[in-house]
Amino acid sequence: MAFPEAFLEELVEKNPIDEVVGQYVHLTRKGNRHWGLCPFHNEKTASFSVVPDLGLYYCFGCHKGGGVINFVMEIEGLEYPDAVRNLAKRAGMQLPEEDQRQASTLRRKERLWELCRDAARYYHRMLKIPEGQPGLKYLLGRGLTQKTITSFGLGFAPDGWDNLKKAMLTKGYTVEELQDAGLVRTRKRQKQNPDGSLREEVSTYDWFRNRVMFPIIDVRGNVIGFGGRVMDGSEPKYLNSPESLIFNKRKNLFALDKAKKTKMGMLVLTEGYMDTISMHQYGFDCAVASLGTALTSEQAGILAKYTRQMVLCYDGDQAGQNAAKRAIGVLEPTGISVRVLRMEGAKDPDEFLKKFGPERFQQLLGASEDQAIYQLETIRRKHDLTVDDEKVAFLKEAAEFISTMSNQVEREVYCGRAAEIAGVKRDTLMVLVEQNRKAKVRTAKKKEERKILRPADQVQPADSSIKYENVRSAMAEEGIISQLLLEPGLLTQTEGLKEEDFSSPLLGRVYGWIRNRWQQGLSTGVSAMAGDFQPRELSHITRISQKYETVVNEKALGDYITVVRKEASKRGNKDLMAALERNLGKKGYGG
Ligand code: UTP
Ligand code: MN
Repeated sequence: MAFPEAFLEELVEKNPIDEVVGQYVHLTRKGNRHWGLCPFHNEKTASFSVVPDLGLYYCFGCHKGGGVINFVMEIEGLEYPDAVRNLAKRAGMQLPEEDQRQASTLRRKERLWELCRDAARYYHRMLKIPEGQPGLKYLLGRGLTQKTITSFGLGFAPDGWDNLKKAMLTKGYTVEELQDAGLVRTRKRQKQNPDGSLREEVSTYDWFRNRVMFPIIDVRGNVIGFGGRVMDGSEPKYLNSPESLIFNKRKNLFALDKAKKTKMGMLVLTEGYMDTISMHQYGFDCAVASLGTALTSEQAGILAKYTRQMVLCYDGDQAGQNAAKRAIGVLEPTGISVRVLRMEGAKDPDEFLKKFGPERFQQLLGASEDQAIYQLETIRRKHDLTVDDEKVAFLKEAAEFISTMSNQVEREVYCGRAAEIAGVKRDTLMVLVEQNRKAKVRTAKKKEERKILRPADQVQPADSSIKYENVRSAMAEEGIISQLLLEPGLLTQTEGLKEEDFSSPLLGRVYGWIRNRWQQGLSTGVSAMAGDFQPRELSHITRISQKYETVVNEKALGDYITVVRKEASKRGNKDLMAALERNLGKKGYGG
């Protein structure tokens, strides 16, 4: 969706970046820069900064950066068009005409979101009145705190056929809207008239009755549906909202609105509402759940947007393990790494946490006990431990593996396990491990030193997916970009420099982008880039803009251009030679 430029310019202007960021981060002003704690990584001293004059933010710690639209995309987990709509709303701006055609569906959706939110409020309020006490008692009985109940907006649907319907009609919603949101159902019955003819009687009734209620909230914070659980053993245990204009089970995950902000560096997929909520209550705010179905490829794609590390935490029974296997297959195409958590002594995370506490769970997650044991097992299977030589080989390999663990206690624990497997004393193995470790630390140090001495490594982008093929040229290209970001008018002096001359495709694209926009009289700052560059690309561009001198230096610009041209022509020559060789080769053999 392309928004008109004038609209975007106004949008950026009406949403000063320090104000928008200030809604999420406490900023302190020093000179022309505002500083705060980075919302994208954990830190204790501020390395996150906002430069209102340039309309950009940049974190010197994690190197995330960009303009105001990109900030909203990153922090709210929104796609570009939604971030734009979000900011338009914030500034009280009318959406442009092109966007209006979607507006009628959007308006219908908004109405249903509003209805579901009001329904959630209604259910939640029930917990505070006498009729709702069975619900409250049930939730507290499951070990949930009042704080958790509030933060997840849990509630209770009282027994009866039309409690919610009445309450929502009073608030001005129509029966049709209630139907569209899946909150009431229609029943048609054939009735006999006194004269023997048939008539159809249509009645509607509440879908959720006498159940505790779990609102399902999408990633943008809209209530889109509900799960309702019985409080006794009756069936079905959980009843979910049917699919609707706003509720698509394949494309949503329970609690992702919360988990997307986690700083644990992973997302944990559980099977159900209760497991997820329980994990959040114990501080594991990285938990999500699929919605009563197997993980879909759409959900996998969404998860991959928020994390590089997925942990599957399904029930310990056969069904759960099969589901985990299927989920691995579904997640595989996304390329994110997947681990499976195996709990012993409890059937699901909810039970595990209650029984063994959060420390043990943290161990499972962080140290991934089962993965280490799995590794040890793999090593063991390679060797026949009844043969002495093999036993030594096993111990060496095990020591090598254990020495990679950074935690002393962990190393001791696994030395114990491995020693047990081989039937030797733990201390013997421990000595071996510590030797290995010292050697490792030494090589790591050397490697680090070499790295400092080799500037080529240092200048590679923080994001490894953007790699410079020709560092010499790329440095000059960065210089050019930094100057143009500062003063696009310098384009009058880059005449003849082509996009293809850039060795880095990304920087070439940035150059082309700036030139194009400048020629059209459009703004060329980082704050205008969100629609055309990926967030990680934008972070890199912002980094460049922060890395170089902040004064226009025409002489330097000229030097940069010379380097880029020279390197490009070298490349061109090489390509030419290769083409010639290919040609000659063909002729040689063919002739
Ligand atoms: P579970 O029965 O494992 O759920 O089903 P749970 O959340 O752990 O339940 P309790 O409250 O602790 O007993 C896993 C998920 O499958 C869906 C729900 O989304 C549930 O959270 N489900 C389960 C249904 O949709 N319908 C059902 O009848 C049962
Ligand atoms: Mn359960």
